[in-house]
Amino acid sequence: MANHSIAAIDVGTTKICTIVAEVDQHQDLRILGVGVGPSAGLARGMVDNIQAGIEAIASSVERAERASGTRILSAHVGIAGPHVSSMNSRGIVAIGDPRHPITDDDVQRALESARIVNVPTNREVIHVVPRYYVVDGQDHVIDPSGMFGSRLDVETHVVTSSSSAMHNLMQCIEGAGVRTESLILEPLASAEAVLSREEMQQGVVIVDIGGGTTDVAVFVDGAVVHTAVLPIGGIHMTRDLVVALRVPQPAAELAKRKYGHVIPSMVSEDEEVEVEAFGSEGSKQMPRRLLAQVLQARTEELFELVLTEIRRGADPEVLSAGMVLSGGASSVPGIDLLAEEVMGLPARVGRPQHLAGLSDLLHDPAYATSVGLLRWALKEQEVMFRSTPVVAPALGGIFKKVAHLMRVILPQ
Ligand SMILES: Nc1ncnc2c1ncn2[C@@H]1O[C@H](COP(=O)(O)OP(=O)(O)OP(=O)(O)O)[C@@H](O)[C@H]1O
Ligand SMILES: [Mg+2]
Repeated sequence: MANHSIAAIDVGTTKICTIVAEVDQHQDLRILGVGVGPSAGLARGMVDNIQAGIEAIASSVERAERASGTRILSAHVGIAGPHVSSMNSRGIVAIGDPRHPITDDDVQRALESARIVNVPTNREVIHVVPRYYVVDGQDHVIDPSGMFGSRLDVETHVVTSSSSAMHNLMQCIEGAGVRTESLILEPLASAEAVLSREEMQQGVVIVDIGGGTTDVAVFVDGAVVHTAVLPIGGIHMTRDLVVALRVPQPAAELAKRKYGHVIPSMVSEDEEVEVEAFGSEGSKQMPRRLLAQVLQARTEELFELVLTEIRRGADPEVLSAGMVLSGGASSVPGIDLLAEEVMGLPARVGRPQHLAGLSDLLHDPAYATSVGLLRWALKEQEVMFRSTPVVAPALGGIFKKVAHLMRVILPQ
């Protein structure tokens, strides 16, 4: 396949990041341009002001267009929030003629049967991610195409979203002049950017701590078993500092980034920091350890919630590769150590890697989701080129995008 371009929009609670990249014949990404701007019109992953959302998205898209010298006509878009939920579902089909090997069409039929779960009318399916296949009782088959059998089962992870929240997001994207190529669950995207195949195989959880949400995805035996989006993030850490220290929000945000730590004992007892204050005081001195205590309490609570989510998908004991942290709030010092302490799992902070082109900014953990959207979309396209779907899925046309692929981004 010849080089082509691809675009993604990560609509976060604090920032909107649009990336345009070129994909070469080896499926490697070369970043052509990035556009980052503040987010607006969005609360906890859901649009609450369409006009503000459109303007913020349009501004990020324009920046990426200017930086890359391209026109973005369509893009892959991240989705996360309390309106998204996930479950595991099994699809089963009979193979018409067991004397012939299983075809890609049989696999698609099995995936379609897994999709027909009990989805209420006000929800839509975003993903049916195959975890593994079973051919005539033979378990954990990775790719059944070409195998012989009379019955094909597929274990999948199905992600659904509230229709209205999903359409509001797509409305904002469209209002910014961009067609939504596909919607991608953010924790799955982050995983693609920062986890290695080996980690997924050995059992791992990705925890992307953003501004308003913390995205969780648990992987066992190379496949996703649980995803969740918790409505807590860096914004709440800052808010705690505002309340505990009685300082304005911008000052608390600055202090968090400059002096933040989540292990108070690692901060010198007599280190004082200066933080802008309310009222006539101008600024006030306070122990840096106090900041760390406030941040520790919130982060510990967050990890307890994450642990509860992990248990919904797997026994934490089986996650040999432990936990990988990403998202802007994972930059606070000590967070990997605190994670290890609370979870009893090895932890590291993950950054997007192996990017060529104008990618300096993207090596930060805050861009795991943004880069992951491109990686996930690329992986899906690879699968699509291998197989021809037999049933048109939801989101009208997502799977028809192959034809558009070469025309997604036109040079200006
Ligand atoms: N060095 C730092 N130390 C502590 N927190 C930081 C640092 N840098 C960024 N953050 C925090 O990271 C958060 C933003 O992270 P990120 O950019 O991943 O969020 P987002 O994608 O906009 O939001 P979400 O994914 O929740 O929708 C902010 O709350 C910010 O305060
Ligand atoms: Mg994010």
